[in-house]
Amino acid sequence: KTTIKSIYNDTDKYLNQQIELEGWIRTSRSSKTFGFIELNDGTFFKNIQIVFEEGLENFKEIEKLPLSSSIKVKGTLIPTPEAKQPFEVKASEIEIEGYSTADYPLQKKRHTFEYMRTIAHLRPRSNTFNAVFRVRSLTAYAIHKFFQERGFVYVHTPIITASDAEGAGEMFRLTTLDLHNIPYTNEKEIDFTKDFFGKETNLTVSGQLEAEAFALSYKNVYTFGPTFRAENSNTARHAAEFWMIEPEIAFADLQDNMQLAEDMMKFIIKYVMENAKEEMEFFNSFIDKGLIERLENVVNSDFGCITYTEAVELLQKSGEEFQYPVEWGVDLQTEHERYISEKVFKKPVFVINYPKEIKAFYMRMNEDNKTVAAMDLLVPGVGEIIGGSQREERLDVLEQKIIENGMDPEDYWWYLELRKYGGTKHAGYGLGFERAIMYMTGMSNIRDVIPFPRTVKSAEF
Ligand code: 4AD
Ligand code: MG
Repeated sequence: KTTIKSIYNDTDKYLNQQIELEGWIRTSRSSKTFGFIELNDGTFFKNIQIVFEEGLENFKEIEKLPLSSSIKVKGTLIPTPEAKQPFEVKASEIEIEGYSTADYPLQKKRHTFEYMRTIAHLRPRSNTFNAVFRVRSLTAYAIHKFFQERGFVYVHTPIITASDAEGAGEMFRLTTLDLHNIPYTNEKEIDFTKDFFGKETNLTVSGQLEAEAFALSYKNVYTFGPTFRAENSNTARHAAEFWMIEPEIAFADLQDNMQLAEDMMKFIIKYVMENAKEEMEFFNSFIDKGLIERLENVVNSDFGCITYTEAVELLQKSGEEFQYPVEWGVDLQTEHERYISEKVFKKPVFVINYPKEIKAFYMRMNEDNKTVAAMDLLVPGVGEIIGGSQREERLDVLEQKIIENGMDPEDYWWYLELRKYGGTKHAGYGLGFERAIMYMTGMSNIRDVIPFPRTVKSAEF
């Protein structure tokens, strides 16, 4: 059977030939003697036009098919040089595979993204979400391609873990339900405290610590998996379940880390622009005008870089009315991040060397004893997309830092041993996968780039 993708890719092969297609009706209109169906078969962003005439034995039935009915079409692909599409299919036979009904929610009009979230199971049938989720798939592939081509080892870090990799206490705690022994109707008797693993465990907030263990054997590794955060932020950029890419590189410092992040971002943007042309043109026209030009500039120019201290001065001198006032020592808020990347640099920019108090325990202390070798990558439209650092490789300094942060060195015994047995300087970062998709598509809410989003008070599907 032919697909719409193969027809667009290899038109000459199919022109004036008999073809067979199967797909769903996106739009349909007809007059007394003939009708048009826009068919999509999922293989390609664009539809193909099917022309059907009253000669078809089931003409009356086809004409009345509700949107999203699935059909099989036999016919001839004919050139239409005067029309918008370069070709159409003249149907000789249309078989109905699955009926839809007249109350199909995606009628031919614009729906708000808020509404679309209430029908997440149907979202991929709309242009916008179909484009988003294909870009999501291609981006995942591009990320693997980038790291694999450079010899990085892909490591699967655990989802269930006893350690809090960020030391921020924003974890989902696990409990067990032993329903074999208790009738499930009697919920009061369920022992929620029974620890399956013999200790308290959580869903992972980051695979970094385990990735460090593997980097100190393979030199260059990366993770790519789901992570979970119980932060109570109901924003357009935070989800409770999101995916993160975490490369970790040994014998490398903050400069090497920034170089890797910049090369990776450019690689994936380029890959998506080359391999999702139709989708990117759609975003450029309907979601974010100027998107393609902006991304092309990103690929062709160097990222900016300033220190946290410089950023604070810059924000203080900006004359902007920020909701959160800025002084040295405070964490940068989204409004500050966006000011720096959108108004000052107008391109991706690294902010480095943050105060140690506002960053995680594992970041390497700088000479000044006040800042750590951290890096955040900020991009216009989204804000922070990457967070990373050079890691503290000095055993005594790290131990001290863990204690200062109110954590128990015992809990991190294996992490500390990495410094004891041939530790080296090393660095790494985490790219928020959804934020990368937002950046490349122009979509402005994280809920709209996750197939079935999990955010505060929302897990319906
Ligand atoms: O800055 P974060 O918290 O860094 C880490 O987790 C480190 N362990 C990474 C590392 O060095 N290996 O998170 C990294 C990125 C953020 O920059 C952001 O893009 C994304 O993960 N992120 C979120 N994305 C969606 N929803 C959330 N709740 C997110 N929290 C972080
Ligand atoms: Mg961060």
